[in-house]
Amino acid sequence: MKANTVFDCSIIDVSKITSKAGNLTVAENNMNMPFNVKRIYYLYDVPSGEARGGHAHYELEQYIIAASGSFDVVLDDGINRRRISLNRPNLALHIVPGLWRELDNFSSGSISMVLASHLYDEKDYIRDYQEFLVYKR
Ligand code: TYD
Repeated sequence: MKANTVFDCSIIDVSKITSKAGNLTVAENNMNMPFNVKRIYYLYDVPSGEARGGHAHYELEQYIIAASGSFDVVLDDGINRRRISLNRPNLALHIVPGLWRELDNFSSGSISMVLASHLYDEKDYIRDYQEFLVYKR
């Protein structure tokens, strides 16, 4: 976790079942997911100009999906930074543990859906950037 870098994260094309009546995307444990999902949460009604995130996790692995609209995810491993734009509901950004992340540039009406490998645990968060840098050293 400690040694993970922003280059260990990738965008996965989950799946898309298309029809003239619209599209459907499926994520299934042990099928097209690299971890078992224990929790789903989503961010919505984010006011224009606001940022979310601003923390790292010791163990938590996540998939972030722009279920609607678009936003950017900024990943930081203490050395490298990557800004990744998400804007398609069938694309999932796999975020490995041990990275600082921020979400910004939310479009109006956007929904950020997060599939997470663990239940919520405040002890798994690093919320101070200097503390994060010390952890990564
Ligand atoms: P936080 O993870 O800091 O949100 P973000 O990274 O999107 O800015 O969580 C915001 C608040 O919600 C914080 O008080 C913790 C709480 N929370 C839960 O109770 N359960 C959860 O699953 C999540 C993700 C957050």
